[in-house]
Parts: sequence; structure tokens; C-alpha cells
Amino acid sequence: MAESGIYGGWVSHENHSGKDNLVGFIVVRRAADELEVLNLAVAPECRRRGVAGLLLAEAVREGRDLGARSVWLEVRASNEIALKFYNARGFRVAGGRPKYYRNPDDDAVTLTAAIEP
Ligand SMILES: CC(C)(COP(=O)(O)OP(=O)(O)OC[C@H]1O[C@@H](n2cnc3c(N)ncnc32)[C@H](O)[C@@H]1OP(=O)(O)O)[C@@H](O)C(=O)NCCC(=O)NCCS
Repeated sequence: MAESGIYGGWVSHENHSGKDNLVGFIVVRRAADELEVLNLAVAPECRRRGVAGLLLAEAVREGRDLGARSVWLEVRASNEIALKFYNARGFRVAGGRPKYYRNPDDDAVTLTAAIEP
């Protein structure tokens, strides 16, 4: 994320038998002192190994260095795995947006966590 930039992204790679594989990515946006997670995903066969945790920690670390004091995101209300993932990392529910998602229709849960200076 450039100092004056708004968007940032990180990818996680693994090397298997000489082949480079993309296993996960995160996309964030920083606006003033808020960092927003726009997308975070890990390949199904690579989940539950801490990849998403590392990606989130890196994005938050750089966001903090650039002045972010809180992190925000929206997640489908039906996405129990993501809710558990963020809850385990200190996020709390800050609100919701009814019928925010399409295909399929779903409510959004807004989650936030403080970023310690
Ligand atoms: C949510 C997601 C990013 C987590 O990626 P991950 O690399 O598996 O996550 P990590 O290994 O860093 O963290 C694992 C933690 O997430 C939660 N979690 C992950 N998979 C889970 C599952 N199948 N059941 C319950 N909890 C789960 C748990 O808290 C778990 O901790 P634990 O292993 O100590 O119980 C991944 O499941 C994913 O890509 N989902 C589809 C996209 C998505 O929903 N993104 C989130 C919206 S932005």
C-alpha cells in the first residue's frame, strides 16, 4: 500500500514440486484512519492452516503504520466460517445491512476491530 494510496493487496504463494501456486489473497482500502477489508479468500484445499490470519495480520500491520486505527468489513450473515474467523481475531459486530448481498440474497454483518497503535 503506497503512502498516498487508497487500495492495497497481498497474495500468499506456496511452492509445490517446483510449481508456484497462489493460495490466498486480501484486498484492503484505507481511508483516513480506517482500514476496510474488501476481500479475503484462501483456496479451499489450503484453508485452516493460518493463511488468512497471516494475510490479515500483514494488511493490519501496514495499515497501522500508515495511520489506520480501526479495521472494518462486511460479511454475509450466513458465512459462519468467516464470522468465526473474525470473532477469533477480536472483531465485534458493529451493525448490519439488510439484503445487502445478491445471488443469493443475504444480509450483511458489519464487523470492526481496533488497531492498537
Ligand atoms: C474465511 C477464510 C478466509 C479463512 O481462511 P483460512 O486460511 O482457513 O483461515 P485461518 O487458517 O487463518 O484461520 C482459521 C480460523 O478460521 C475459522 N475457521 C476457518 N475454517 C473454519 C471451518 N471450516 N469451521 C469453523 N471455523 C473455521 C476458525 O476460527 C479457525 O481457527 P481454528 O483453526 O483455530 O479453529 C476462508 O475460509 C475463505 O476463503 N472463505 C471463503 C471466502 C470468505 O468467506 N472470505 C471472508 C469474507 S471477506
